[in-house]
Amino acid sequence: MLWCTAMTPKLSDRTRFRLEHNLLARAVADARRPLVDLTESNPTRCGLSPGGEMLGELAHPRGARYEPVAIGMPEARGAVAAYYESRGVQVDPERVVLSASTSEAYGWLFKLLCDRDDAVLVPQPSYPLFEYLATLEDVRLAPYPLLREERFRVDLAALERAIDERTRAILVVHPNNPTGTFARFDEAEALEHLARRNGLALIVDEVFGDYAWGALPGDRLPTFAGRANALTFVLSGLSKVVGLPQLKLGWIVANGPGTALEAAFSRLEVIADTYLSVATPIQLALRAILDNRAGVQGQIRARVADNLAALDRALADHPSVRRLPSDGGWSAILEVPRTRADEAWAELLVREEGVIVHPGWFFELDREGYLVVSLLPEAFPSVIGPVIARLAEG
Ligand SMILES: Cc1ncc(COP(=O)(O)O)c(C=O)c1O
Repeated sequence: MLWCTAMTPKLSDRTRFRLEHNLLARAVADARRPLVDLTESNPTRCGLSPGGEMLGELAHPRGARYEPVAIGMPEARGAVAAYYESRGVQVDPERVVLSASTSEAYGWLFKLLCDRDDAVLVPQPSYPLFEYLATLEDVRLAPYPLLREERFRVDLAALERAIDERTRAILVVHPNNPTGTFARFDEAEALEHLARRNGLALIVDEVFGDYAWGALPGDRLPTFAGRANALTFVLSGLSKVVGLPQLKLGWIVANGPGTALEAAFSRLEVIADTYLSVATPIQLALRAILDNRAGVQGQIRARVADNLAALDRALADHPSVRRLPSDGGWSAILEVPRTRADEAWAELLVREEGVIVHPGWFFELDREGYLVVSLLPEAFPSVIGPVIARLAEG
């Protein structure tokens, strides 16, 4: 065989990711002491694992057989419907699709709804993974603002202005990460109306739906599941519902006006069939895992409440730092003195306090003056006092 000069294979343009380290990542890499990570939101790294009882179910002997079902095994989809029923909502198990994660479900929905360069409207601020999920499907993200002064209510006028002929879906994170806002009933209706009038689907990410801080105010919608005013896909999964991301099980609950729903669902079924990504043992164990969620959810709620109380105690002495009001979720947004950029604040906290926090831009907060902290870490109460005191110094 004759060898010729090697040519480097061309890689796709869509994977031309920015891989260089930012200021914060460099500060973390250079740190010479153990750091307390207040960006950690993986419950299994925060001492919040539910223990063996739940995982024991994964050893079901039927797991030895492989009988794939595109949208997920009927008993597993029934378990998802039972989960919603226990929350007072009727969901048809025939309109549930299982995936390996919510992130994968997003990819499937973008494939279902969008051609190359079609657009999905996404809230700002919000969870940072969307940019990657959309890029990987050649989908364009168009931001719509949430109004900070109105507890991050959707700016409906701006949302409507952002719709163009290439828009295919409105994405709602409910409650939003990191703002923790649940939609008001009137807001949900307005979103559905807009979606329907413009021929758009609603994609509603409810991974934090079980984590309201106390009773939800009467004007807030607990879930979009079961609502059929527009073609709606509600997403959730075990990574937040039982704090076990490693089980790799998420779901889509589809609902909407008859013909639109049927057409979309039959195509979604083909997409799911192409991947068959959910493992059999987790499907067999799903019922028991969801039925036993109260224990781990109680632990997570208690941790969030304790850390929130520690945060509020620390803030009481320092009025120049504030926590933005929220309805739920696992994070808090801090409004901090604008004496330096958020990234510089985060870098300083690593250097001086040995603590990692997220600068606001990470969640697309639209101006400087915000840091975001996770409320899951065990060490939170021991470090938050000095962190707030340092921020208050400016
Ligand atoms: C709002 C939101 N949606 C989805 C996910 C991803 O969930 P999954 O593990 O199911 O992909 C996260 C993870 O933090 C999240 O914050």
